[in-house]
Amino acid sequence: MRDANPTTVYLKDYKPPEFLIDSVDLEFELEEENTTVRSTLIIRKNSTSHQITGSLELSGEELVLISVSIDGRELMAEDYVLSKETLLILNVPEKFQLETIVRINPKQNTALEGLYLSNGMFCTQCEAEGFRKITYFLDRPDVMARFTTRVIADQSKYPVLLSNGNPIDRGKIGNNRHWVKWEDPFKKPCYLFALIAGNLEFIEDTHTTSSGRDIDLHIYVEKHDIDKCDHAMRSLKKAMVWDEEVYGREYDLDLYMIVAVSHFNMGAMENKGLNIFNSKFVLARPDTATDTDYEYIEGVIAHEYFHNWTGNRITCRDWFQLSLKEGFTVFRDQEFSADMTSRGVKRIDDVNTLRTRQFAEDGGPMAHPIRPDSYIEINNFYTLTVYEKGAEVVRMIQTLVGRKGFRKGSDLYFERFDGQAITTDDFVKCMEDANQTDLSQFRLWYSQAGTPEIRVTTLYDAATQTLTLKTEQSCPATPKQPHKKPLHIPLTMGLLTADGKQAPVQLEDETKAVPEKTLELTEARQQFHFINIADKPVVSLLRDFSAPVKLIIDRSPQELAFLISHDTNAFCRWEAGQLLACQVITGEMERILNGNSNDALNIQLLSALRHLMSQTWDDIQYLALLLNLPSEAYLSEIRETIDPDAIHQARQGIKQQLAENLQTDFNALYQHYHEDESGSYNNKTAGRRRLKNTCLNYLKELNTKAVYELCNQQFLNAHNMTDQIAALSTIVNSDNPEKAEYLNQFYKQWQDEPLVIDKWFSIQATSHMPGTMDVVNKLLGHSAFDLKNPNRVRSLVGAFAQANPVHFHATNGQGYEFLGSHIAALNTINPQIASRLLGSFTQWRRYDENRQHKMKIQLEKIAATPDVSKDVYEVATKCLA
Ligand code: TRP
Ligand code: ZN
Repeated sequence: MRDANPTTVYLKDYKPPEFLIDSVDLEFELEEENTTVRSTLIIRKNSTSHQITGSLELSGEELVLISVSIDGRELMAEDYVLSKETLLILNVPEKFQLETIVRINPKQNTALEGLYLSNGMFCTQCEAEGFRKITYFLDRPDVMARFTTRVIADQSKYPVLLSNGNPIDRGKIGNNRHWVKWEDPFKKPCYLFALIAGNLEFIEDTHTTSSGRDIDLHIYVEKHDIDKCDHAMRSLKKAMVWDEEVYGREYDLDLYMIVAVSHFNMGAMENKGLNIFNSKFVLARPDTATDTDYEYIEGVIAHEYFHNWTGNRITCRDWFQLSLKEGFTVFRDQEFSADMTSRGVKRIDDVNTLRTRQFAEDGGPMAHPIRPDSYIEINNFYTLTVYEKGAEVVRMIQTLVGRKGFRKGSDLYFERFDGQAITTDDFVKCMEDANQTDLSQFRLWYSQAGTPEIRVTTLYDAATQTLTLKTEQSCPATPKQPHKKPLHIPLTMGLLTADGKQAPVQLEDETKAVPEKTLELTEARQQFHFINIADKPVVSLLRDFSAPVKLIIDRSPQELAFLISHDTNAFCRWEAGQLLACQVITGEMERILNGNSNDALNIQLLSALRHLMSQTWDDIQYLALLLNLPSEAYLSEIRETIDPDAIHQARQGIKQQLAENLQTDFNALYQHYHEDESGSYNNKTAGRRRLKNTCLNYLKELNTKAVYELCNQQFLNAHNMTDQIAALSTIVNSDNPEKAEYLNQFYKQWQDEPLVIDKWFSIQATSHMPGTMDVVNKLLGHSAFDLKNPNRVRSLVGAFAQANPVHFHATNGQGYEFLGSHIAALNTINPQIASRLLGSFTQWRRYDENRQHKMKIQLEKIAATPDVSKDVYEVATKCLA
């Protein structure tokens, strides 16, 4: 909990550590409510540090200090100063051995940082600053040490004892207790430390690296989940092969372990040799997990595996550099998934997340650069900006230097910095050095917040057969950054002829024409002149979404319809459809708000969709994306002020009209792709299901008996979770009379599968049907609801606040009160989760006066919570500033 004045940490205050730790020897006597941690550290002065205080300050929180000794001599009370968050040891020698003994209470630890109990199993979470809740330490990533860990516990309750590295010894002691000693040969910062003790089973496999080393792969889970690990193992093996092929990186230990736990604040954690995962990102069986779950599992398993090089072998100097490992690793996992699935579809899914969620963050009170320059609580900076925008920045570097150049840069990076804790600037420098290029202006992407806007106009001159393309870039003000400088922006483009062919692109000062070109924007205003253009072309712009920007360009419905049919770039083609749909839905909103009687449904949109459905497709997942309307979240993002009711009504209205007009087409596609799916997951079956369920989702808008029957049959006969949950969702979001019965049936069927029960909560929490607030309030009292389990909280409270705009923003303010009270409760239970939930209030200034007022009241209340955590305090006060 917070001291009177939470302090802000600044990047500009960074100083190298005064002391270094060469080795760490830990011993854990595990007891649920009284664990003893003995730590023996070999410490020496850091010769490069300029400080000469002579005393050593260690971090430690919520520890009961039993004893502290230096070189075998126990210290007396006058030798040190103990405070709430530090242990200051006065007058230490140049080099010494420090031994501390502390007691901790894992059972009481509901914040899930440090050592805690998850469903009866001991586990740890140390990133970012959780290690200080385990023992006194220099808890900062630029202090890297070799660790050995002895874990002692009751043999029957905790037969499996794990830590980082390799097991080197084991034994039994009295009282039915046993121990295992682990050694990690690699130097690492303490945030990568991990420990597990539990009654676990595992599946095993092996991977032979390209240099011929055999690695044992273990996935540990609770007994009843042992049949849900195969997909995770397959994903891990694919990731290992991919990193060898694409980056030349092999795994370095002989053993790689993954453990699934039920109580976890985030997705997963890359602890050296011992990844700990939210069970949601490990466990999958076709009947319990959806295709989306399968995709996420593959991506997260890969993400954590890739961290072994981008994060662990090379780590961050300080937490301001978080994007060094996260941006790069997200970029790597995105590219991996693109190679495993469909590149175009993966790119569109990623752009969707970025544009709805990261753009909102970048335009709100928590906006920060991918390398922030200050924070109160670092846990608040594991953000979409650091992760997803960070990945976009790495992607732009690859676009600028090319794939080969990028590989040269990464090779140099691994060679130059292996074993070190470094900065994002060191990374950029490698890319420059390996490619003899200048990225000095590009570096602004690391320090400047906000989403840039690019305005593009074009002018074709038939007489000279030239095209002039004018660009104007700007970036809105963000907190503490009123004025922005022009950025270095790669803008990939192509030209299309009237008959839909790709036309050659040739700039006036270039000798050769190319099919596609990346323009480099560096100034506020620029012009590009293209030559040898026989007829007026259509410009295809921001191909593959080559930069995380808002592109503003005037396009007529005709031009958009043309691009939907003809753009050769998968992203741009999809984007044209989204733009056209946005125009149509915006028109419908105006009709609703201003009583304008023009029928908004646009003939171009209708015929474009009909045409798409009549074509044959190799990639039917892509077709499903082309048919999807922009989400309410995206429709909120493209306008200054948000009217959640109008957005919902307009979108629903258009969706319904499309369903009515294209009923036969949706039906035909549905029938064609609806098979009795045994449920096996692969790109083809997942594509089939995505498309089919998209059609069902349109058809449900017809609200006919026949459609209800279709949904019911799919629900009753589904052999996989994707189909079952898709059907249940259409049932819950309609007046289907079977709703209550099927929800009950689903609960009974899956009550022993927590991850499926999470879906059961979410599907009800996100329903747009009337009365949802009451349903949600009732669900709070359900015996399966538990505020101490983050997945459960996210599935009910989070889903309602983040994915149900109409009901969360109900004008009576009940949704706000609901969220406010849960944030207050969670502030004491789990500050990280409480702070995440606050995210739903951060956009409060973009709503009408009534809603603003009501959200503000909640924010003020939250900021004034007694014992407000740093996490919650920082977000609430920044929102109100
Ligand atoms: N490093 C983890 C990842 O991105 C993130 C993470 C997992 C985390 N658990 C956390 C960050 C708890 C902060 C707190 O893979
Ligand atoms: Zn990560």
